[in-house]
Parts: sequence; structure tokens; C-alpha cells
Amino acid sequence: ISLRQYNTFAVEASCNQFVQITQESQLPDLYEKGLLRDTFFILGAGSNVLFTQNYPGLIVHMASKGIQHFIEGNYIFVTAKAGEVWNDFVWYCIDHGFAGVENMALIPGTVGASPVQNIGAYGTELMDVFYSCQAFDTETGTFTTFNNQDCHFTYRDSIFKTKYKGRFIITSVTYKLSLHQSLNTAYGAIEQELQRRKIHSPSIKDVAEVVSHIRVEKLPDPSTVGNAGSFFKNPIIPRTLFEQIKATYPQLVSFPIDENREKLAAGWLIEACGWKGKTEGNAAVWKNQALVITNLGDATGLEIYTISSKIMNDVYQKFGILLEREVNVL
Ligand code: FAD
Ligand code: EPU
Repeated sequence: ISLRQYNTFAVEASCNQFVQITQESQLPDLYEKGLLRDTFFILGAGSNVLFTQNYPGLIVHMASKGIQHFIEGNYIFVTAKAGEVWNDFVWYCIDHGFAGVENMALIPGTVGASPVQNIGAYGTELMDVFYSCQAFDTETGTFTTFNNQDCHFTYRDSIFKTKYKGRFIITSVTYKLSLHQSLNTAYGAIEQELQRRKIHSPSIKDVAEVVSHIRVEKLPDPSTVGNAGSFFKNPIIPRTLFEQIKATYPQLVSFPIDENREKLAAGWLIEACGWKGKTEGNAAVWKNQALVITNLGDATGLEIYTISSKIMNDVYQKFGILLEREVNVL
């Protein structure tokens, strides 16, 4: 089976076996049959993966649906199945007046993948609203629950990308949201767009609409231009190194993390190397956002990987910083 429609880069790749999970009870069955003992990969919407070759094993595609909530005091616990579309879950919350995920509107992908890289945008991260998740342990064949601390969330990272990479299949996620709106509109682009719209006391819906608008302006729509969002993470570097680079490049864009560390805008570094809008074969760097690599139509995964390596090399030569890929390369 072709995986082209199962990855937002829209690169061609095949796999040996493909199974779609619509019910959690299918997982113990797969385990009993021994199918989770060999090579397998858990796939959501494929919006953060790059296939550089045919996949030599089983693809477990998460497609279970359902959203439920219950209210406890001022809090709401919303539980969504892994295969739910993240943005549908966000709008379920907004329509019910549940605050906390509006800044993350329109991030592509599924609920089940949301904890994996601790998705985030416009000043909010998943870890701010994550309560727990249920997951199937492919080593023991049992279901288990992870709470927020168990997941070791940091910027674009969790235990599901490190120690437990590829081991747990997340089947549902519970988010803790609030009936009281305490909006986070400090992100410059949100403030500007609210002002432009003359909205002085925004609702969660206003924030979600503004964020969606900003995203559409900056990021290519995967349904027409193959991409996986930011290809690299924003590097977090020691303050001493940051000060050295800043002395040579005063325009450098960055954000303080703490006393000792600074996060650099990788998009700025890549643009400074002349890559913004540049094309190489069937792959290109997005004209409005240098952190995004796009498929011009018939790129192979390998072509996209190659352009990413060249970018990493140039950024390293110029700034001495080794970018880390955010996208999961297979
Ligand atoms: P996939 O790409 O299918 O999988 C990603 C990883 O998670 C893989 O390692 C996979 O094995 C694992 N995984 C998936 N589902 C499960 C599961 N149920 N259990 C265990 N492991 C699982 N990300 C952000 O954080 N912020 C952004 O603002 C953002 N913007 C984007 C914009 C665009 C246009 C695109 C294309 C991507 C963007 N991304 C962003 C990246 C992407 O949306 C997220 O990483 C998203 O969580 C991926 O979801 P997915 O279902 O597509 O996961
Ligand atoms: N910049 C440039 N040139 C570029 C791109 C960015 O100079 O080509 C500079 C600008 O100064 C800009 C700043 O970098 O103001 C930050 O850019 P932007 O607001 O677009 O955010 P980002 O740091 O590039 C991150 C996330 C995005 C997320 C946005 C908004 C990472 C790796 N990326 O991008 O997440 O949507 O912030 O919060 O952290 C993703 O993970 O796939 C993703 C799209």
C-alpha cells in the first residue's frame, strides 16, 4: 500500500503491512498475533514524518474517534481518542467555552500525537493542558496511564520521543481545561492582529480565529503544498555562546529561556544563510518561513532529507550551531 496520502509531505513510500486502528481492543489482538514484536511504526496524520525509503514493516494507523468531557468545579476534563483530528478537538473545546487550547488552533495532526513532541504554538504548549493519556505498551501487551509528570515534557520533546520511543501506542488523551478564560495573547503577532481587528476584549474564539489567520499567512497548506511544518527545532544554547554570536550578528532573533539559556529563531539563522525561498530539485524552502521545507510536487523523501542536510551544514558553517530536526525521519 502507498503511504503518499498518509504523510503531509506527500512523498511516495510503501509499507509491507498496514492496519487501521478504530477500536482500542484491536491492539491486544495485534499483540497476541505477535505483530507488535517486529518492525512497526505508529502513524497519526503523518504531519511530522518524512519517509526517505519504503517502510519495511507494519504501519499502525491511529483512526479511533470520540470526544467526551466532564466538569468538576471550574475545571473540565476532556478526553479524546487518538485518531481525532487535533483541530476538531480544539473547536469542540471552543464551541463548549472550554479555555486553554485556543492558541494551538489549526496545528495539523491527531490527538494521539499531541503529547509525543509536546506540540505548541503562540505561547502555549500541550504540557500546559495535558492531564493524562492512556497507552498500550507493546512490550507487555497491557494498557497503562501516564500523568503529566510521567511524560517528561520539555520544548518539542517527551518521554515518547526519547526513552519510550516507539514503545507505547497512545490511545486517548485527557486534557484539563478551564471555564475561566485567562487568555494568553502576549505573542506579538496575536496582539497585532487583534488590534487590527479592533478586538479589545477577545474571547477564546477570537484568539483561535486570529491564530488560524496568522498560520494561514505564514505556513503552506499541506493539502496543496507538501510540508511538515517546522523542519527543525529552534536551538536552545548557553547564554555565553549566544552573546558571542549576538556580538557578530546583532540582528539575531532570540528569546530568553532562563538565566543561562537562550532560544534562537532557527528560521532567522536559515534565512541568514540565504536559504529562504530557495529551490533544489523538487524540494524548496518556503518563501514566507525559512523553517519549512516543501515538496514542489514529485520530491522523494531523500531529496527533502538532502536539502535539510545542506541547510544544517550551512548554518553550522556560519554560526557554529548544529540544528536538530523536528520531523521524524524514517
Ligand atoms: P505523525 O506525523 O503521524 O507522527 C508523529 C510522531 O508521533 C511519530 O513519531 C509517530 O510514531 C508518533 N505518534 C503518532 N501518533 C501516535 C500515537 N497515537 N501513539 C504514540 N505515538 C504516536 N507542531 C507543533 O508543535 N506546532 C506547530 O505549530 C505545528 N505546525 C505545523 C504546521 C504544519 C503546516 C504542519 C504540516 C505540521 C505542523 N506541526 C506543528 C507538526 C505536527 O502538526 C505535529 O507534530 C503533530 O502533533 C503531528 O501529528 P500527526 O498525527 O500527524 O503525527
Ligand atoms: N524568522 C525569520 N525568518 C524566517 C522565519 C522566522 O527571521 O524565515 C524570525 C522572525 O523574526 C520571526 C521569528 O523568527 O519573528 C519567529 O518566527 P515564527 O513566529 O514564525 O515562529 P518560529 O519560531 O519560526 C515556532 C514553532 C512553530 C509555531 C510557531 C508559533 C518551532 C520549531 N516552531 O516557529 O511550530 O507554530 O513558533 O508559535 O518551535 C512546528 O513545530 O511545526 C511549527 C510550525
